[in-house]
Amino acid sequence: MILGDTPSEAEIDAWHAVVTACHLYDMPPAVPPPSRAETAGQLLVPAHLSHYVRVVVPAPEGGYAGVGWVRLFEDDENRSTAWIGDFAVRPEYRRRGIGTRIWDALRAPIAAEGRTSVTAEVEIGGAGEQFARARGFDSALPMVWYVQRVADETTEPSLPDGYRFLEWTGVVPAEHAPGLAHVHNAMHDSPYGDLDLRPLRWDAERVVRAQSAAVERGGTVLTVAALAPDGSHAAYTEVVLRSPDDVRAVQFATAVAPAHRGRGLGLAVKRRMLGLIREEGLPVREIATTVADDNGPMRAVNKLLGYRPERSMGLFQVRLPSG
Ligand SMILES: CC(C)(COP(=O)(O)OP(=O)(O)OC[C@H]1O[C@@H](n2cnc3c(N)ncnc32)[C@H](O)[C@@H]1OP(=O)(O)O)[C@@H](O)C(=O)NCCC(=O)NCCS
Repeated sequence: MILGDTPSEAEIDAWHAVVTACHLYDMPPAVPPPSRAETAGQLLVPAHLSHYVRVVVPAPEGGYAGVGWVRLFEDDENRSTAWIGDFAVRPEYRRRGIGTRIWDALRAPIAAEGRTSVTAEVEIGGAGEQFARARGFDSALPMVWYVQRVADETTEPSLPDGYRFLEWTGVVPAEHAPGLAHVHNAMHDSPYGDLDLRPLRWDAERVVRAQSAAVERGGTVLTVAALAPDGSHAAYTEVVLRSPDDVRAVQFATAVAPAHRGRGLGLAVKRRMLGLIREEGLPVREIATTVADDNGPMRAVNKLLGYRPERSMGLFQVRLPSG
């Protein structure tokens, strides 16, 4: 069954019940479950230049036995691919073909739009990996989740002469959107492994819309940028609380523009971010981040900040016949 674009409160509750039950069953206890606000935000607020198909399988006693959505990108680079999220079947309904029914329902629009691959985030060592491999997915980008305790790293950040910090909570101020977009495009240098998915091209509108979507989804977005002596954007880092009471925030992008690399700016903006979180009095105790196994520079910076590896995951991709 396909869910409409504006699910009702009851449909959001039922969806949230599935992802929460699966989270508690599949994930280590240290990983906090998603809040209802996060689930609702994900279902109600689409990402820019994307449309979605959301699939549910009703349970005989009411509610859902399983759920999953697919994001169909509309930007030119990614029209041939798609992204699956929230794919989950309640533990008591597993191994009865429900996951396969959801996958078939998600695959239909992917195929109908002539897309030739799709990617999903998969935890290594669990049922998800077994299922994904059985459906022809393979790991295209191995990654590890790392976690840092905010209280553990209190070193004052230091910037090279003439650089200064700029920070804001919420959506980027309009005058800084073009500069932020420029640095965001430096993310293109991070590894993409065997993924068909291409890095998004960032411009002022897209950075505004991305931060606005995170806010509309009920989240809090914190950004710390470093400005070069000439006022241009040299580096930035972005952390998101998916709901106001989030104790484990998620690291979004950290990037240093190519002309400014090798001067400690990545470390500086991340240290300043920790200070900002403390100053704002937010409930966050930890920051979690994924880093690709072959992203040496980011792993080195994170090690200096006290990040410890928590669990392995992979971006799993399957190629599909076109048409
Ligand atoms: C992954 C998940 C959605 C599968 O749901 P499901 O309804 O149990 O899947 P199906 O019954 O359709 O399984 C299809 C095939 O996948 C494989 N599979 C699924 N779970 C498996 C497991 N625990 N161990 C080994 N193989 C497994 C089998 O080949 C299975 O066929 P079989 O039962 O005939 O042997 C479910 O385990 C889940 O919610 N996991 C947690 C969330 C998650 O990891 N999601 C990401 C998936 S990409």
